Amino acid sequence: MAQVVIENVYKSFPPRQGEGKSAQVKSGSPLGKQNGGNRPEAINVLRRINLTVEDGEFMVLVGPSGCGKSTLLRLIAGLETITGGNIWLGEKLINQLPPKQRDIAMVFQNYALYPHLTVYDNIAFGLRRRFLEMQDVNSVNPSVNHFAKMGEDLLVGITRNLPKGLRYLSSKELAVQERVRNVAQLLQIEGLLHRLPKQLSGGQRQRVALGRAIARNPQVFLMDEPLSNLDAKLRAETRSQIVKLQRQLGTTTIYVTHDQTEAMTMGDRIAILNQGQLQQVAPPLELYNRPANKFVAEFIGSPPMNFIPVKFHASQQIITNGDFRMTLSQNWANALQKYDGCLVILGIRPEHLVVGVPATKNLPVQVELIENLGNDSYVATKIAIANFEFRGFMSESIQVRIPSERPLRLGEQIWLSLNQDKLHFFDPDTEAAIFPRTPINLPFEKPKPQVN
Ligand SMILES: Nc1ncnc2c1ncn2[C@@H]1O[C@H](COP(=O)(O)OP(=O)(O)OP(=O)(O)O)[C@@H](O)[C@H]1O
Ligand SMILES: [Mg+2]
Repeated sequence: MAQVVIENVYKSFPPRQGEGKSAQVKSGSPLGKQNGGNRPEAINVLRRINLTVEDGEFMVLVGPSGCGKSTLLRLIAGLETITGGNIWLGEKLINQLPPKQRDIAMVFQNYALYPHLTVYDNIAFGLRRRFLEMQDVNSVNPSVNHFAKMGEDLLVGITRNLPKGLRYLSSKELAVQERVRNVAQLLQIEGLLHRLPKQLSGGQRQRVALGRAIARNPQVFLMDEPLSNLDAKLRAETRSQIVKLQRQLGTTTIYVTHDQTEAMTMGDRIAILNQGQLQQVAPPLELYNRPANKFVAEFIGSPPMNFIPVKFHASQQIITNGDFRMTLSQNWANALQKYDGCLVILGIRPEHLVVGVPATKNLPVQVELIENLGNDSYVATKIAIANFEFRGFMSESIQVRIPSERPLRLGEQIWLSLNQDKLHFFDPDTEAAIFPRTPINLPFEKPKPQVN
């Protein structure tokens, strides 16, 4: 087990055939450097990544498609060369080490099992190779000396063609057997060891792929969307199984997903990546309660946070838009001081809005869509303010989560009341979060026991 330190890491790829500057601009890639000429430029995929994953930590890496998640994992695994910066595994600088020597196991987005090998042999495959590579069979069983090994090889050779149960197993193979059985027990696939991959369900195959990585007992696990091929139920089951396993093994893990539910439920901490840059690294609830910028606020939470442009008036301590006027607490008024008379972006999550009375302090909206989920309903609404300024900054529709028993009709006008303690504000230029002077929404911390 070890800490992984990623220090100022950059990665660029050479331009692809026929992909010059104009092609990049056309494809909307914001990462291509401008060179003023027609010479194709390198594609900068990761920019200045600094991230420390603590020993034994479960770090989840999330971000939209193409933001560089897999590339970062491949750099750590040694499957891509680093353009700039350093990667440390414990005390060791591993930039130049070939993948085999990194002691890192990776489970890929599209895991592939060997179709002609049984589950047992699929798990044993990497292990046998690893024992061979290490040339360290004697450390598995120190009593085996050189001559004993020769004798063993002879016995293995003589019994090779006998039925499986009668074959002589070398000490190396016995060690492999023990490890495979332990891993199979851990993943509850003991009954499947003799089967071929085609005789397994998707979830079982997924567990075998995990087993292969676990059997190697590496210092670090890298998992690249390992559950993407599973259905929702299996996904949830395997998700909790992976978390349980990681706690049991205590192996430092970096887990990539673009599914924010997975991120929130699995990670000790979550690192959010966008366009090759880290946006925020924090425990799940911290990200939810105190997002560092508008991107994080929108990415974490489902349905996403609503954004409404408002004007701040310091003298009255209010925010307004059209007829909507809301008085802010002293903390918020202090924090927004420099935006007096200017636009700020107000953020509020669907779960922090309730249907209130018709009043200017509440947001007038029109019901557009109702999705009844049983306990709750998700209601998509359209802001009913006529001459709404700064429309470009606003969410297309304001989402509300309300209890299902509240009857609503399509097209109905309602007034939404905003929970004062759950407001967020963002700078309209930088999109960085503005935090109140006295932090609110701090997570509850259990008091430490008194030592007498
Ligand atoms: N070998 C390569 N050569 C050139 N560009 C590449 C190469 N590999 C990846 N890229 C580009 O780097 C960017 C990041 O790719 P990456 O696979 O890391 O994204 P990702 O975050 O894992 O996305 P997804 O969620 O879709 O798997 C993409 O724009 C991709 O096209
Ligand atoms: Mg990927």
